[in-house]
Order: sequence, then structure tokens, then C-alpha cells
Amino acid sequence: MHVSFDIAADLDATLRAAATRAGLEPGFDPEVRTADPRHGDVQANGVLGYAKARKLNPRAVATQLLAALPPELATVAEASIAGPGFINFRLKPATLLAWLQAYDSTEHLKSGASAFYRGLRQVVDFSSPNTAKQLHVGHVRGMVIGEAICRLLEYCGAEVVRDNHIGDWGTQFGKLIWGFKHLRNDDALAADPLEELERLYKAADAAAKEDPAKLDAARAELVKLQAGDAENLALWNRINAISATAFAEIYRQLDIRFDVQLGESFYNDKLQQVYDELTAAALAEESQGALVVFHPEHPRFKTQPFIIRKSDGASNYASTDLATMLYRTEHFKADVIAILTDTRQSDHFEQLWLTTQKWFAKTGRKLPRFEHVTFGSILGEDGKAIKTRSGDPIKLKALLAEAVDRAFTLVTEKSPELPEAERRDIAQAVGIGAVRYADLSQNRSSDYIFAWDKILSFEGNTAPYLLYAVTRIHSIFRKLGVAPFDAAAIAGASAPETDAELALARKLTGFAPALRLTTAQLRPHFLCLYLYELAGEFSTFYVADKVLVDDPAVRARRLLLCARTLLILETGLQLLGLRTLTRM
Ligand code: ARG
Repeated sequence: MHVSFDIAADLDATLRAAATRAGLEPGFDPEVRTADPRHGDVQANGVLGYAKARKLNPRAVATQLLAALPPELATVAEASIAGPGFINFRLKPATLLAWLQAYDSTEHLKSGASAFYRGLRQVVDFSSPNTAKQLHVGHVRGMVIGEAICRLLEYCGAEVVRDNHIGDWGTQFGKLIWGFKHLRNDDALAADPLEELERLYKAADAAAKEDPAKLDAARAELVKLQAGDAENLALWNRINAISATAFAEIYRQLDIRFDVQLGESFYNDKLQQVYDELTAAALAEESQGALVVFHPEHPRFKTQPFIIRKSDGASNYASTDLATMLYRTEHFKADVIAILTDTRQSDHFEQLWLTTQKWFAKTGRKLPRFEHVTFGSILGEDGKAIKTRSGDPIKLKALLAEAVDRAFTLVTEKSPELPEAERRDIAQAVGIGAVRYADLSQNRSSDYIFAWDKILSFEGNTAPYLLYAVTRIHSIFRKLGVAPFDAAAIAGASAPETDAELALARKLTGFAPALRLTTAQLRPHFLCLYLYELAGEFSTFYVADKVLVDDPAVRARRLLLCARTLLILETGLQLLGLRTLTRM
């Protein structure tokens, strides 16, 4: 029996075809959803609205629709009409079994999922920190959400270009270069280069505030850099290289990678075209020496300008981002461009997108889709922006180190018998995983409170809970002496039968809609919630139904459920960027 990866999507297509046969008007949307398990597996709510709008009897329309369903559907699911005109589908146990047998490896799951976005070119701009500043806790969201989104989109068939759009150009370099030339401490630079750069910037900034002559000197360094002065360009390169090395170390720890790192400076020679085209298209105008774009149709942006070139002629964030939009569209042939930043940049991206749409329309370019993927802030336990005791932002390096330390203490309490090297390795996965999962499991639009006890708890929707659930299934197989993906152990499995088996099997087939929802909204918390519920469903099953029974068909089907739960938990956690373990 062939069973599709996303059964709900398949039923959606079947219903649309049936609607045509039944003579419903084109454009009928069956509104297929995952059903409340008490009523079925999948439900279609679309008949109600359709009938209401046309003053028809919804039950009559639903009856017509059911009659037009292909007869072979009866082997897959049982369809019925409920209430005023809902259509419910209850999957046959044989369908559930067929699904579990078909999607037996992460590659097979992927081959099902890759139909979602096959060939869609998607540029994802994430992390994108500014040079010469340390990564701090505020950077973590963009990094882990971005990495998860890239993995998920790739798994679902998109061709993803991961771009780290480093802030490597701009006015901060005047002070940085001046500071580097006059205030540098070479020992400190050798010991912790990024730390020293950050100190230099702060010291130069303070000096410039006190002494206008120093401010002028810093500005002069910037002008020299922008004019291509060899010494300043070399320093600029050196500063960027120092930053890049420090960033790379954190990316390695968090298992984050990029295909390209095209920073703001990459667009320097592409800005004139932006100014020229926007001026020629009469979208940009001079205002007090600056080049600006207004959006008369917008309540705020009709008076609040989008400044695309400053009055001193220098480029800014908007200029480079416009050039970036063009480059990603033309060079990378992006169908979708997604940029991750915190919500505070919403105005900038709204203006950028309004401007891009008009610009591309005037110049006859194909418009990609644009997603500004925003996220809220991480708060301390007092509900305020998270800070160290001295009031500085918490460095990401320090946060990750603390996470691993705390996880080591926990693991040592729980499993003192494990060799130390293994406990250290587990602590890495649990500590880093906990920080990451704490972030991903929250709706990215909201702020969240970072609390060590909560994120490292073995209870609730946390990394330790899920990583532990994975190791527990591994240990079931270890005790049995069979490999979890051993085909022989699950051969001859019969279809799920008990309530707990059925509920778990249904939840497993829910992986497809969970992936679809997560990628459609670029919100990893949907996948987190699904995995958490799956782990819960597994616990219920494991308590209710003994796995090692004598009847070989029953035993095989229960082992099959164990194996597939393990497969989907591991696959899902890895898509979120977590490293899973076999024991802890
Ligand atoms: N460097 C910016 C920041 O730290 C983020 C850049 C996001 N990407 C972009 N194309 N603007 O806030």
C-alpha cells in the first residue's frame, strides 16, 4: 500500500478533486486540519463556509462531496460527516502501519518532506553580527533560530543559501582605527584580541566624547578608510579578521555554518546603482542633502523618511540593504529572502520592503518573496534585559561555558558511574542543547525569561527531557540486545491495535504536518511542541503496553513503534540543531 508522507495534504488534494467531480465551484478550500483525536485523525471544515456563503445546506454539500470521493480511499481512511457538516477522517490501522513501515529512516522521511519546497531558492540572512564586538546573549536567538530554519528548509527540499551579513563597514571604524593606532595594548591584543578591540572602541568613544579634536581625528580616519587609504584598509582587514576568528569559534561550538559571508562592505561598489536607479525611478529624492524615500500611502512612512544616503554622501544600513536585495535576487536567484533580526528593526525592514517592491516594479524585475523573521528579547529572571551583575551584557562565550558546567554537575549527579570523559561529552550536548532549545521552544515573537533551573530541568518541554527520552528508547533496545534500526526485530509487525499504540502511531504520522507548519511560519517552536508531545505519547504507550510480549507480531509492532519514535525524535532534534545521545 502506498501511503504519502503528509497524509493530511494528500486528503486535501483528494477532497479538491472530489469537489470538482461533485460540481462544487472552483477554488473550494476543504480546510484540512489535524483533528481532535476523539473525532478522527484529519478533519475538513471547508464545507461549512462554502455552503453558508451560497445559502446551501452544508450537510447536503458534505454528502455530495463524500459520494464523489474515490472508492479506494476507503482502504486508507474512514470518512464520516459530523455536526452541521464537518468531514472527519479516521485513518485505518493498516494505513498507520504502512506509514510506519515506509518512513523507516531519516533519508526516507526527508524524501517525503522534500516535496514541500522542492527547488525553492531561499536566501537566509542570519546571525549577521557587527565586527569588533563580542557576541553576547542577545545574539543567540538569531543564531539558533536561523540555523534551525536553514536545516528545516533544506530538509523540506529548499535550496538554501546561508548568508552571514556581517556589519563590517560603517562609522564605528573611525573610532576603532583611531583607537587601534593610539590606545592599543599589544599584550591584551595577543591574549584576547576581540576583548581588546571592544575595549579600544569604548576607550576611543569615551575619548571622542571628551575631546572634540579626538572626535575629528576619528572622523578623519574614517574618511581615509573610505577613500581607500592603504594603511587604514590594512587595519580594517586586520580588525575584521580578528572578529571573524572569534565568531568562528562560537559558530563551531553551536554547530552553525554559512555558505557565504557577504558583509556590508561587499556592497560598497554596488551602491551607486541603487542611488541612480531609485532617483531615475523618481522614488528617491534629495532632502536636506540626504537621499530619501517616502511612502505616501503609509501612515508613518509618508513623513518618516527612509534615508538611503546620508547628507555627507556616506552610505548607511539602508543603502547596503537595498543593494543586498538586488544582489540576492539577481545573483542567487532567490525566490525567497529571509532576514532574521530582533523586532526592533521592524521599521527599517518595512521601509526596505516597500521601497524594494516599487523599485523592482519600476525596473521590471521579478520580485522575490521577503520575510523579516523577527524575534523578541531574552530577559533575566527579574523580567528585565538580561545582564551581568556589573550591568554588561552577558557574553555568549561565558553563557555557553556556564551551561556546559552546570550540565556536567547535573549529569554527574544523575550518572556518577559513567566515565568522566563521557560525562563531559554528555554535558556539552545537554548544556549547549539546553540553551538552544530554551530559545527554540518559545514562540520567537515573544520575549522569554532565561532561567537556568528551568532550561536544565528534566521535566517539561526542555532539552534534557527530550534528550533523556531519546536515551531511554536506546536503553530499551540495549536491554533487548537488538539494534534500534534492526529490520528483523520489527519484521512481521501487525497494525497498531490498543488505544496507546494507535495514539502513538497517529502522533508519529503527525511529523509531516508539524514540519509543514514549522517551515510555513518559520517558527521552530511548533516542531519543539510536537516532539515534546510525541515523547509524552511514547511514555503513555510504554506504561500501558508491555513491549516484550511472547506474540511475535505484537512484539514486533511495539518495537516498530519504539524504533520510529526514536527515529523521529532524533531527526527532529537534529533539525533543531541539537546533538542527541545514546545514553546519559
Ligand atoms: N548587523 C545587523 C545587526 O547587528 C544585522 C544585519 C541583518 N541583516 C541585514 N541584511 N540587515 O543588527
